[in-house]
Amino acid sequence: MAKISDPSSFGRPVGLEITPTDHGSLRELLMLARGLGRETGQFLLTDRPAELRTETKSTSTDVVTEMDQAAENRIISGIQRVRPTDGYLGEEGARQAGSSGVTWIIDPIDGTTNYLYGIPMWAVSIAAAIDGDVVVGVVDVPALGVQYFSHRGGGSWLERQAGDDPVPLTCSTQTSLSQSLVATGFGYDSRQRESQARILTGVLPRVRDLRRAGAASVDLCWVAEGLVDAYYEFGLQPWDFAAGALIAQESGARVGDLHGGPPGEATTYAAAPGIADALRSLLTQYEADSC
Ligand code: IPD
Ligand code: CA
Repeated sequence: MAKISDPSSFGRPVGLEITPTDHGSLRELLMLARGLGRETGQFLLTDRPAELRTETKSTSTDVVTEMDQAAENRIISGIQRVRPTDGYLGEEGARQAGSSGVTWIIDPIDGTTNYLYGIPMWAVSIAAAIDGDVVVGVVDVPALGVQYFSHRGGGSWLERQAGDDPVPLTCSTQTSLSQSLVATGFGYDSRQRESQARILTGVLPRVRDLRRAGAASVDLCWVAEGLVDAYYEFGLQPWDFAAGALIAQESGARVGDLHGGPPGEATTYAAAPGIADALRSLLTQYEADSC
């Protein structure tokens, strides 16, 4: 998904309707993602076995459960049923280039550690990109019943309960970094965590407080909702941030990396416009990109 990190393509505005025969309209992609988000979320809630089978991935604390894989399979089948020529990239290994120009970027459970422990902050994150440009994002938080969603140019929205009228989201109007509530997250690699902890020592004394909810997609939606003033993290993967970054950006937040580019694996930040520059320069000062 290199093109997700292509500065020239990430923020490009896209009209509401684009070549219906090839790509479908943004509304069509959005409705598919929203339906799959709700369905998969319900499946993860109701079919969760009392004893979850787990395996580890990159490190001994990077856990994947049988439900991550099952949820990814369901999402991919749902896409293939109606859009067989689309590509996809899923955290649990689903990969297909596709021929339609539309690629789905999927984290079936963002916040797997929370899911494992029964903490409600986990999400199904589904984004659609057209020729590498993320145009649709859905973050469904099943244990809270809420769904965040956006399409490029259409603002960010929150459906508080399935079937409710969605409400528009606007990020915070905070202008002082020292008064800001800032969310962050940590990777699974212990050496990377040492760097992240070092940066925290620079950030924590200079902000109101920090939050670590445990799901990057939810953190980004909290920026969109104004529940936190900003979020940053180093070392995310496209499935962690694709949907949430669009939702944050469409709420009016500034979203990117530390160098004026789009959010990427090195750094992703999302911040109220009034504190974005101050946060970026603070993170840069603490050599954040060395993570
Ligand atoms: C993780 C969560 C977490 C973030 C990690 C991600 P996962 O995703 O989003 O909040 O700090 O960097 O890897 O592994 O639960 O899908
Ligand atoms: Ca995951």
